[in-house]
Amino acid sequence: MPNSEVITHDVIIVGAGLAGSWAAMATAQQGVKDVGVLSKIHPLRSHSGAAQGGIAAALNNVRPVPGTGPRGPLEQIPVGDELVDSTELHMFDTIKGSDWLGDQNAIEIMVNDAIDVIYEYEHMGCVFSRTPDGRIAQRRFGGHSAPRANYAADRTGHVLLHTIHEQALYHGVKFYAEWYVMDLIVEDNAVRGVVAIDVLTGKIHLLRAKAVMFGTGGYGRAFKITSNAYANTGDGVAIAYDAGVPLMDMEFVQFHPTGLYQHGILMSEACRGEGGYLINKNGERFMEKYAPDKMELAPRDLVSRSEQTEIDEGRGVMDDGQGIFLDMRHLGREKILERLPQVRDIAIDFVHVDPIDDPVPIQPTAHYSMGGIPTDVHGQVIADASGTPVVGFYAAGEAACVSVHGANRLGTNSLLEASVFGRRAGYAIAEFIKGGAKLLPVTGDPAERSRQAVKELLDNPGTELVEDIAQELKANMTMNCGIFRDEERLNIALDKVHELQQRFKNARVMDKGSRFNTDLLATLEAKHLLTFSEVIVKGALNRTESRGAHSRTDHPKRDDEDWLKHTIAHKGEDGRPQFSYKDVTLYWDRFPPQERKY
Ligand code: FUM
Repeated sequence: MPNSEVITHDVIIVGAGLAGSWAAMATAQQGVKDVGVLSKIHPLRSHSGAAQGGIAAALNNVRPVPGTGPRGPLEQIPVGDELVDSTELHMFDTIKGSDWLGDQNAIEIMVNDAIDVIYEYEHMGCVFSRTPDGRIAQRRFGGHSAPRANYAADRTGHVLLHTIHEQALYHGVKFYAEWYVMDLIVEDNAVRGVVAIDVLTGKIHLLRAKAVMFGTGGYGRAFKITSNAYANTGDGVAIAYDAGVPLMDMEFVQFHPTGLYQHGILMSEACRGEGGYLINKNGERFMEKYAPDKMELAPRDLVSRSEQTEIDEGRGVMDDGQGIFLDMRHLGREKILERLPQVRDIAIDFVHVDPIDDPVPIQPTAHYSMGGIPTDVHGQVIADASGTPVVGFYAAGEAACVSVHGANRLGTNSLLEASVFGRRAGYAIAEFIKGGAKLLPVTGDPAERSRQAVKELLDNPGTELVEDIAQELKANMTMNCGIFRDEERLNIALDKVHELQQRFKNARVMDKGSRFNTDLLATLEAKHLLTFSEVIVKGALNRTESRGAHSRTDHPKRDDEDWLKHTIAHKGEDGRPQFSYKDVTLYWDRFPPQERKY
C-alpha cells in the first residue's frame, strides 16, 4: 500500500447522511469552518436517502375528518380549529413505542426540537408534499396517535438529504467521497483523529482533528433479509468498540414489517399509513387478531411478530409460504401515483407486481439498529455507565444510542433523530472548538496499525472466501437472532459467530491491488459485522425478557424489575464483550411504565 499522509482539520465527521451532514453544517454555521466529512460512498448515496415515508413532528396540519373515527380520511385542519396533536402526545407515543427503554429526557428534547427542525428544512428549500392550502402534508404512521409524518411523496429521506448536503456545501464543508475509515485514534480517553483509506488511490492517511463525530449509520447488513444499503455494515460502531468505546443496547434490532419479498427492500410504512392492508393466504386482515385498535398501524415490532406468526403457522403466501400480501389496490391509481410512486416502481422492477392491480408480496426485513455508540443529548460520546465523556468524540443518528428509541423505534422518528441530534452535535462541537480545544498529539504513527492490518490481509494465503463468511453470518443472524429468539437458538448463533471469527483469520483477499480495492473493503466490512454481531447475540442471550423488538419465546414477558435498564458492552481484554447495565432516564411522575397495548 502507498505511504500515508497526514491531513488536519478542526473537525472530522465520518458519514455524510443526515446526522453527519447536519453536524457538519451546524458546526460551520456556528463559525467553525474547518470541517471535513469522510464518506465511504458518495455522500448523496448515504442511507438516509432511502427513508421513504416521512419525518415526525406534531405540526397539526391535518386531522381525520370529524365524525369518521381515528382511521377516517384526513383533511387539513381549518385555521383556528381544535388541534389533534401535541409534543406531549408525540413524546408519549415514542416512550410507549420504545417499551419504556427510551430515555425520556432525550425524547422530550427530540419532540420539542422536531417542529423547529422541520421549519428549518422548509426554509432551506426542502420540497415537502403540500396540503391544498400549502401547508406541509402529513400522513399516519405506525404507533403514532396522530397524523404527524411530514412527507415528500415516498422520497422523504432523499429530499432531506439533498437539502442538507447542499447547505453543508454552501457553508464550506469539505467532503471526502469514497474514503473508508479504518481506525479511531483515542489516547487517554481523548480523541485525536482517524485513519482512513482513500479508496481511489489506496493510500492510507492519518487525519488529525480536535473533534471527531461518527454519523456512520446502522448495521442491518448483518442480516440476510434487510432493507439496508450494502454500505450499512456498522463500521463506525465496530471501530469505536475496537477503540475501547462501549456499545449500548445492541440487542435491539428492528424488523420492518414490509420489506419486499425475498429482497428486503423497503415498501414504506406509508403504504399502510395511506390505508394499505396486510393479508394472509386466506385473504384475512390478520392484524385484527393482534392489534384490533391500531390494526396495520401498530408499531413495527408488533406487526412484524404478527406477520411472522402467520407465516410460522402456515398462513403465509407465495410458494414457500414465507410472504404476506400488502394490498393497496383499494387506494386507487391516482393516490398511488401521487403518494407512493417510488414504492410502485420498486415493486414493478423487483417482483413484477404493479400495486395498482395486484397485492405486493412482502416479508419482515431487518431495518434499524436501536443500539449503538452511547451519547448524551449533545452527541457527546460516553465511556461508561457513569457518563464519563470520551473527550472530543461525538456521535449521532443510527450509529449512536442517545437513547430515544429504546427497545423499538417508531417509523419517522429516525429521520427526526438524525436531524435533531446531528444538529445538536454540531452546536456542541462548535462550542467545544471555540472553547479552546487543542489538536492533541499522537503517539508514534497511528496509521501504522491500519497499514499493517491491510498488509496482513493482503498477504494472507488463506483458503476462506470472505463472501462465504459474510453470507453464513447473515443467514445465522436471521435464523437464530431474528424476530423471535430463545436461549437455544441464541447459543447456536453465538457458536456460529465464534466459528466465523476463527475462519476469518484464514480469509483470502483475491484482489491484491491498491486502487478501488472493493474486495479489501468487503473484507474489512465483514470483520466489522463479525465484531458487533457477537455483541448483539450475547446481549440478547443475557436479556431474559421480551421488550420491544427483542422477543424471547422462552421469556415472553417484559420484566421491569430486572431489565428496565440499558445494556453497556465493552470489549474485554480477551476480545470478548463484557457487560454492565445503566439506568433508564424516566420521568416517573409523567410517564411511568405501563403495559403496552395497541
Ligand atoms: O417505512 C418507511 O417509510 C420508513 C421510515 C422509517 O424507518 O422511519
